[in-house]
Amino acid sequence: MEKIYITTAIPYVNGAPHVGHAMDYLLADVCSRYQKMLGNEVRFQAGTDEHGNKIFQKAKELNIPTKEYVDQNANKFKDFIKKLNVEYTDFVRTTDEAHEKRVQEIWEKLKDHIYLSKYEGWYCSGCERFITEKEYEENHGVCPDHQKPYERLEEENYYLKISDFKADIRDAIVSGKMLILPDFREKEILKLLDESPDVSISRPRAQLTWGVPVPGDDNQVMYVWVDALCNYLTVLGYPEQDIADFWPALAQFVGKDILRFHAIIWPAILLALGLELPKTLVSHGMVLSNGQKMSKSIGNVVDPLEVLEKHGTEAFRYFFLRHIDTFSDSDFTWEKYENAYNNELANDLGNLVQRLATLAYKNNFVYEKAEISLPDEYRDLMKEFKFNLAFDFVWGKVQDVNKQIDDDAPWSLAKNGETKKLNEALNSEISNLLIANKMLEPFLPETSAKIAQIFTNQIDPPKEPLFPKTK
Ligand code: MSP
Repeated sequence: MEKIYITTAIPYVNGAPHVGHAMDYLLADVCSRYQKMLGNEVRFQAGTDEHGNKIFQKAKELNIPTKEYVDQNANKFKDFIKKLNVEYTDFVRTTDEAHEKRVQEIWEKLKDHIYLSKYEGWYCSGCERFITEKEYEENHGVCPDHQKPYERLEEENYYLKISDFKADIRDAIVSGKMLILPDFREKEILKLLDESPDVSISRPRAQLTWGVPVPGDDNQVMYVWVDALCNYLTVLGYPEQDIADFWPALAQFVGKDILRFHAIIWPAILLALGLELPKTLVSHGMVLSNGQKMSKSIGNVVDPLEVLEKHGTEAFRYFFLRHIDTFSDSDFTWEKYENAYNNELANDLGNLVQRLATLAYKNNFVYEKAEISLPDEYRDLMKEFKFNLAFDFVWGKVQDVNKQIDDDAPWSLAKNGETKKLNEALNSEISNLLIANKMLEPFLPETSAKIAQIFTNQIDPPKEPLFPKTK
């Protein structure tokens, strides 16, 4: 048995969760459930990123004390994760006292690689990060993600010497010691790494009040990203607790928009602390809405609670884990969602379970339980974090069983009194369904448990369809 650590990006709590936020949780949950299925022990972190100007200003606009505001939104995220049936083990909020204390201790440990200097240049308040001259020129002075002009800043900051670690980070990436997935992101990161200057890791208190104070300097507050990235360690009790059982993480799940922080600043912090780098950084694409980036101004933001309301948790998991590509941007539309629900969940799987269980029941068939082993192809896809492809593979097996029943025509065998042939056919069909069902477990845990329950020795057809059709 191995001890495995899996992490998710911690969202800003300057609003309610939207469907995009589900991706980190769902992918990490599939990974976690699969690891547990293999017999490993998993620690699975989730949390909320609660400092920074964006949050501070939002609370101010709403005229709510900042702490109250972050409490409210942190609860919305916790509820959301629960509704997705995501089994995290540890939850961290960056405003937790323990986290703040630990981050300050981490800062002290980084000191050999920190220096004070003056910054004069560009800043994006939407990204909460400094912008290089090159980026400024490429984007014509306007942030492409936030549609806001970059601001000119002149201020004193502490810097982390990325230059001390560039060569080691590059080696780790190139040698696959810290694997970046998908492959096509690796090149982008190596280029960014080469161009990366030392990064500013604090802001003057006058510019940022809602954050963790820099120890030993009352004028400076930690940059939100340093505070946020360290959550992956503080939640395990670092630095006062020994984290060697779980660190390095097997996989850290992040969106492509924040991969650069995780692939450059984060490894630099870890190397400065003398810690190992994560084994894999898995960067997922964006969920688009009708082909466009979700934005409040376009008015195309999809409310995840509405999606959950429609057909429940399992249908939500089904769509986002299979039809949203694990690594690339993919589109959500209500039409696609309805079609996937009716044609695939209800037809391919729900009907299959119903008709196979009914056939077995009517013919008094008793199923002899068999050992199930996972196909190599599935294991390989899961190991490579190609979850949507693994899910496609499972679905192919579900469709194969449908086809097998059509070909075997057990109803004709029953009618003609060919009992031996009938029993052989049912036995093989049910075995094949149960193999697919085992592979389904990390993706649709409730459905998989229900199906396993139906096809026990004495087969009991479900009273109601697993997924009632809506059209
Ligand atoms: N607070 C930082 C993360 C700090 S991690 C140490 C942050 N927060 S966020 O709320 O903007 O994003 C949280 C996660 O949600 C990120 O992984 C991000 O990529 C993901 N997504 C946000 N919008 C998304 C989509 N539309 N689609 C898919 N993922 C999306 O960044």
